[in-house]
Parts: sequence; structure tokens; C-alpha cells
Amino acid sequence: MPVCRRKVTVIGAGNVGATAAQRIAEAGIADVYLVDVVEGLPQGKALDLLEAAPLQHHDQMIYGTNDYADTTESDVIVVTAGMARQPGQTRDDLLLKNRAIVRDVVKKATQYSPDAILILVTNPLDAMVHVALEASGFPRERVIGMAGVLDSARFRSFIAQDLGVSASDVSAFVLGGHGDTMVPLPRYSTVGGIPLPELMKPDRIETLVQRTRNGGAEVVALLKAGSAFYAPASSVLHMVDSILNDRKRVLPCAVLLRGEYKIDGLVMGVPIILGAAGVERIIEVSLTDSELDALHASAGAVQSLVDTLEATKG
Ligand code: APR
Repeated sequence: MPVCRRKVTVIGAGNVGATAAQRIAEAGIADVYLVDVVEGLPQGKALDLLEAAPLQHHDQMIYGTNDYADTTESDVIVVTAGMARQPGQTRDDLLLKNRAIVRDVVKKATQYSPDAILILVTNPLDAMVHVALEASGFPRERVIGMAGVLDSARFRSFIAQDLGVSASDVSAFVLGGHGDTMVPLPRYSTVGGIPLPELMKPDRIETLVQRTRNGGAEVVALLKAGSAFYAPASSVLHMVDSILNDRKRVLPCAVLLRGEYKIDGLVMGVPIILGAAGVERIIEVSLTDSELDALHASAGAVQSLVDTLEATKG
């Protein structure tokens, strides 16, 4: 496999961060710098991952550190630092604790990599993108939340399982915030190019839509400690790959809207073209009245978190 010396920093060496580091290094698309506040944790996980390199046939560097100076001139910074939810907790319960963590790590990391593209993973996701925009001072094109790629992967998996077809042939479209109000759009979801409503009855689609909305909580309830990390890490890899290789993939990502979808000043999940410059275009599709209502309800849920952030600003 060719070696690629581009640099990705992953902040938070927990479940999502370490798995994302593994996926990125093993894909051979960048060297990975893993950072955590806990001493020894990123170093230990990085060493373990590096020792797997001869078996995984890659020559990427994986480096663990507690010092942001080591992350200087990263091309992409992935933020996974923070608390994960426990059974009974919603993503929103994490708001204030994770705000403090994300603000701190984004300030430190962007100081050393002023031209990087930030990918946020920490929940509650849309609110954390707001925090990162403010802490970094970066333009909206370079501060992107990972949510829609995961939500649509979940929807795709459920559709594929239900129809007994390859998940690769299923394409799904999810709009809105990364929460219970997310808006999966069956009309824009296809199986081998065939619109989903042609293949599945409305009540069945609705069951899968609900399961998608509840996708994170379903995993949390099963694990009993912590939240999902394999599919989130794969979603991070997809986004990092599209940026580093300038693939210009069309992916649902959380970005700051400025009038798109009639939403102004709020971070929401929408389809974008993701390339070397980050958000290269926000794609607007026409929505029915009920779809637009659902999107605006989702925006209301994100707005209430942003209001709490404003009201408790330190
Ligand atoms: N600086 C750096 N790392 C930090 C900081 C900080 N200030 N605070 C916490 N961390 C680290 C923790 O030490 C831990 O190693 O963040 C890591 C979080 O890892 P996990 O607890 O395993 O959580 P994980 O499952 O990876 O989820 C992280 O991603 O999907 C979201 O909701 C999830 O917000 C959560 C985040």
C-alpha cells in the first residue's frame, strides 16, 4: 500500500477516537496523531495500533500524545473528546460538560493548525459544531459535524437487512439535527436507483425511520456502558477520505446554514459536497410541506440547545 504523509489529528483516544485512528491509518490515507487528556492512554493505544501495522500492511505513523504542539500543521482535526452517553441519558444531557471540553481542545488544536479542517463527533453534535465555530474562529466551510453519514448508514443497513439486498446498493438521505427529531427522507432514498417507496410499504418504511431515529439509543441500551463507536468511526473515515483525496462526495453533514432551507445561523444536517476545501457546496433539494415542517421542528430542537449555550456562557 502506498504511504501517505498527510496528517490527521484525532482528539479523544476513547472508543470512537481510537477506532477512527485505526480505520484512517489502516486505510493508508494519513499519519494519525492521537491526543487525550489522560496520560499514557493515547500513547498506549497508538503503540498498540502501530504494532499491528506489519500485519495490516501499512506504513502510516500512529503517534500518541498529550501535547498539542505535536499536532502542528494537521490537515484534518477530528474531535471525539468528551463524555459518551450512558443508558437513560440523551445526547442533550451531555451539553454543558462537553461544551467545556470541546471549547478547550478546539482552541488548543487550532492554534497549531490554523488551516485545518475540523470534524466534530462529540455530542450533542449540532451544538458542538456551534461551540467549535466560535472557539476556532474558522469559516463555516472548515467546521463540519459528523452525524448524517452515520444516521444514513444506519438507515441504509436497516433497509438492506429488511429487503435482503446489498447495503452497498442502498442510498439513504437524512436531514436535520442528530437527535430524535432527525428527518430521514424515504422519497430521496433508493435501492439500486429505485426509490424506496416503490419497494416497501409506508408502514414498514416508518418502522425503519423510527429505528434510525433511535439508532444510537438502541446501541447504548445494549452496551449498558458507553455508546456506539464502530459505525461512527467508519463515518469519520468516509469524511476524512473525501477531504484528503478531494473526492467531492455528496454526504449529509452538519454545517452552519445561512439561509439554506430557510434556516439562518443554525447548524443542521444537510447534503454537501465535501472536498479538499471542506464544505464546497450545500445542496438544496425541494421538500414537501410536511418534510419542511419536520426539518424546522428539528431546527427548533437544535435552537433550544444553542439558547442554553448562550444563556450559560462562561
Ligand atoms: N481533552 C482530551 N481528551 C479528553 C478531554 C479533554 N479535555 N476530556 C475527555 N477526553 C477524552 C477521554 O479521556 C476519553 O478518552 O475523550 C475520550 C472519550 O472517549 P469515550 O469515553 O470512550 O467516549 P466515545 O465513545 O469515544 O465517545 C466520544 O463521541 O459519539 C460521541 O457521544 C459520543 O460525545 C461522545 C464522543
